[in-house]
Amino acid sequence: MSIHKILVTGANGQLGWELAQAAADFPKFEFVFVDRNAMDLSNPAEFKSVVELFAPDAIINTAAYTAVDKAESEKELAHTINAEAVAELAAIAKQKNIPFITYSTDYVFNGNATSPYLTDTKREPVNYYGTTKADGELMALTVNPNTIIIRTSWVFSSHGNNFVKTMMRLMKDRDSLNIVGDQKGRPTYAKDLALATIKMIQSLNEGKAIKGIYHFANTGETTWFEFAEKIKAMAGLECDLTAIASDQFPTPAKRPFYSVLDTQKIEQDLGISIPHWEIALQQCIEKLTKA
Ligand SMILES: NC(=O)c1ccc[n+]([C@@H]2O[C@H](COP(=O)([O-])OP(=O)(O)OC[C@H]3O[C@@H](n4cnc5c(N)ncnc54)[C@H](OP(=O)(O)O)[C@@H]3O)[C@@H](O)[C@H]2O)c1
Repeated sequence: MSIHKILVTGANGQLGWELAQAAADFPKFEFVFVDRNAMDLSNPAEFKSVVELFAPDAIINTAAYTAVDKAESEKELAHTINAEAVAELAAIAKQKNIPFITYSTDYVFNGNATSPYLTDTKREPVNYYGTTKADGELMALTVNPNTIIIRTSWVFSSHGNNFVKTMMRLMKDRDSLNIVGDQKGRPTYAKDLALATIKMIQSLNEGKAIKGIYHFANTGETTWFEFAEKIKAMAGLECDLTAIASDQFPTPAKRPFYSVLDTQKIEQDLGISIPHWEIALQQCIEKLTKA
């Protein structure tokens, strides 16, 4: 396979932005980043002309409807962007005979497991956002069995909206905060996910068998409360943190108690070792505090 030109959706999202930052170190590839103005995922009928305009050798879809709570009341739009649009991109990639990589979530699982979710663990979404992503996975794989899906969890970056930046802002503004302490997961630095994605493209070029569903998250697991404690310590902030139970922090969309993804398949297939989330967090906070 010879992938040179890569079309990336979601230019302004956490992952899209980290891919754009990383792209400079990979001059062999020509990345074309499109935002919602150039390619609106709520309008799948437009995709073919955009893809034909750029004529890429691969498509990476980082754009998504990611407002988890809002998805409960904006069901149609969330489903169009996370399911119908993903299936249409998968179908176009099949017609053009080019690889298609898209992303999904730990929320496709039921949240009740006690050991890490494997890539073939049964889908049983906890909320409507999870349903849209699970439908997107199935629809894309049906129209294009070569679709590559990378499920990830608890994504953070120095760019965009995420838990790390929200915590740092709130800890500066407030004397105390209550943080949910009974949900467990694996934080993911979007920069590390971007690098793994580029490694995946390189592996495809080398003819390696890369196919189906993968999981990517930084290693180690934690709770939101412990995550917040680390953010506080690494950023050198003063704020009293209290661990609370999920039912003390009701949200429109239910959250999973246990969200830990097993990442062995991606580590083996790409020959990578994934950094621990605390190392990734340190890098992200250094970037944020320097800025
Ligand atoms: N964030 C997480 O914690 C998390 C967890 C698990 C899985 N994921 C998955 O990982 C992938 C990357 O997520 P992320 O964290 O980078 O998300 P993000 O920061 O929320 O970015 C999502 C991007 O999608 C774009 N978008 C939304 N609606 C669009 C539309 N109608 N047309 C075109 N673009 C549209 C947004 O555009 P604007 O900038 O214009 O709004 C934004 O740039 C997604 O598939 C997401 O579902 C994320």
